[in-house]
Amino acid sequence: METAPGDLEVARRRVEELRRLIARHDYLYHVLDRPEISDAEYDALVRELVSLETRFPQLLTPDSPSQRVGGLVATDFRPVTHSSPMLSLDNAFDEAELRQFDRRVRSFLPGEAVEYVVEPKIDGLSVVLTYERGVLVLGATRGDGYQGEDVTPNLRTVRAIPLRLREPSPGVEVPSRLEVRGEVYIPVSEFRKLNEGQAEAGLPLFANPRNAAAGAVRQKDSRITARRPLSAFIYEVRLAEGWTLRTHAEGLEFLARLGFQVNPEWAVHQDIDQVHRHCRAWVARREELDYEIDGMVIKVNDLDQQRRLGRTARAPRWAVAYKFPAQRRVTRVLDIQVNVGRTGAVTPLAILEPVLVGGSTVSRATLHNEDVVRQKDVRVGDHVVVHKAGDVIPEIIEVLADRRTGQERPFRMPDRCPACGSRLERPEGEVALRCPAGPTCPAQRTEALIHWGSRGAMDVEGLGEATVTQLLESGLVRDAADLYHLTVQDVVNLERMGEKSAENLVRAIDASRRRPLWRLLVALGIRYVGERAAQLLEEHFGSLERIAAAGPEELAAVPGIGPKIAAAVHGFFREERNRDFVRRLEAAGLNTGAPAERPATAAGGPDLSGQTVVFTGTLAGMSRAEAEALVRSLGGRTAGSVSRHTALAVAGENPGSKLDRARELGIRVLGEDEFLALVRRERGPS
Ligand code: IVH
Repeated sequence: METAPGDLEVARRRVEELRRLIARHDYLYHVLDRPEISDAEYDALVRELVSLETRFPQLLTPDSPSQRVGGLVATDFRPVTHSSPMLSLDNAFDEAELRQFDRRVRSFLPGEAVEYVVEPKIDGLSVVLTYERGVLVLGATRGDGYQGEDVTPNLRTVRAIPLRLREPSPGVEVPSRLEVRGEVYIPVSEFRKLNEGQAEAGLPLFANPRNAAAGAVRQKDSRITARRPLSAFIYEVRLAEGWTLRTHAEGLEFLARLGFQVNPEWAVHQDIDQVHRHCRAWVARREELDYEIDGMVIKVNDLDQQRRLGRTARAPRWAVAYKFPAQRRVTRVLDIQVNVGRTGAVTPLAILEPVLVGGSTVSRATLHNEDVVRQKDVRVGDHVVVHKAGDVIPEIIEVLADRRTGQERPFRMPDRCPACGSRLERPEGEVALRCPAGPTCPAQRTEALIHWGSRGAMDVEGLGEATVTQLLESGLVRDAADLYHLTVQDVVNLERMGEKSAENLVRAIDASRRRPLWRLLVALGIRYVGERAAQLLEEHFGSLERIAAAGPEELAAVPGIGPKIAAAVHGFFREERNRDFVRRLEAAGLNTGAPAERPATAAGGPDLSGQTVVFTGTLAGMSRAEAEALVRSLGGRTAGSVSRHTALAVAGENPGSKLDRARELGIRVLGEDEFLALVRRERGPS
């Protein structure tokens, strides 16, 4: 349709008016929580704007609220180097550490009065936003603090983030350049609704609001981000050209005037006693909030003092995070069992009545060693308080002795190995008891084989605890070297093992022959040799033969390999039964470092071990089977459907619902060409 120049002018004026109106209602709704119009009226404004912008594309600008609905970003997120490092925070876990922070601050500012601002520590995703002449031009993740990712289109969909700044006061211009930092999060109430929706649709649930927010911010398709209930609190002015702020509190007020959502729960305190009381009060109050917080942040208010305090490598000296104590729950000890580990260490293990702690169910907790059991006086039948140490490992913190009935049973460490009956030993200088039987002990043999197949070692899919136990009990296998002689016929006779799983297991074992040498080194289970040490050894020596032949000094001369590791490696290869084991592995065709061991298709390609790749749609250059074989040749595995465990989805022509699913879950999606570029990476010019 022809449009007269006059129409364009009229449209321009209306578009500008609509944008102003929509921005104002966004602000009232998402920042001030005080809407003035109904959702339907709001939607009508957006629709009118979108239709005008469609008719007059020349009027479209990046700060238009129509951009909040998102669009497809096909490319990877561009890396962004931060203008100054986005530092992290040091933690204070108790009052003493909080006071220590205060003392350090004062030691740098002798004789000066110090004021602190205390604000909630939002458990979300740290972002930095850049505005030029009032318009949002860049939104980036924190990344490693130095370099993040450009996620601007995704952050534009977050309605609490202004696309255009408001005037700080009537007639006063916004800073020509502004950089702010804040936290993107999902409100708890919205998170519940989100997971209800996932459950109804039969989709996996999000573990917690933080994960859901992080996944949404890193979506390749910002239309999906737009549907996620993201919000944002902004808490720091990193740069405001032309403005001189005096205090952090002033900064927070300034941010609010510019139209950002600033957390209202901040307070200024004159000394550390007040700060501590304030933090303590929040431990109880955190449940009242509609967003998750994991502590309080304490900041020196005066910006000049901040500047003089400076920073350490990782964190500013002018701030600290007071972390809330981890969640604790009471449960009962049903039993105390004794566990024999891969290296023979014998550890007591409490079996607990299952209880939900900090977002996951806990049903067992290690008791470390006999001394710990005695010291805590844990008895079977006791009520105990559990938490997750470092938020991960379940631990019994205390026994509720006053709830005892007299029926509780004290625990005594056995003096013989529960698996093989050998007399347990306590090596000098160690707290743990050990079973000295080595691989002749069935428990150690089981653990060693489970370790062999684990993700960090040879990564053999299907070689979990149950299968390992069956293989050993049936006598088919005595150690890992025997695995490589198994046939489908052998395996299919095991209980609960179908034809298909037997084939898969044998194929997975076969594929593990071609793992890089460092994985084999980890799998051998030499004490102290983890991924890093193994990689250093591979890099330096290149083959198992040379590592086995190296003397302790030669080993310790490798940068990063200390005398303890060197002694363990040397000792391992001096033992005849280990040398014999290694010879059998070599005979079974495992890669021990000779370069010819890698198949031609994969030579020099990336290591995909532990990664699952899903294909969807038709590939132009190869069959699905060929593509899958390529992935397997690089150590990866393939699957027919997308799940949270999928590392990569490859989309060909006419991709199906798997592609939508992958995007929903924030999984990396590659086109066919990109996939080929990836697998051919490092193979030199072709
Ligand atoms: S200040 C240079 N204030 O906590 C100081 N951080 O554990 C910058 N966080 O990476 C941080 N709420 O992502 C600050 N009110 C708040 C915060 C906050 C959450 C996050 C931030 C930081 C992490 C450190």
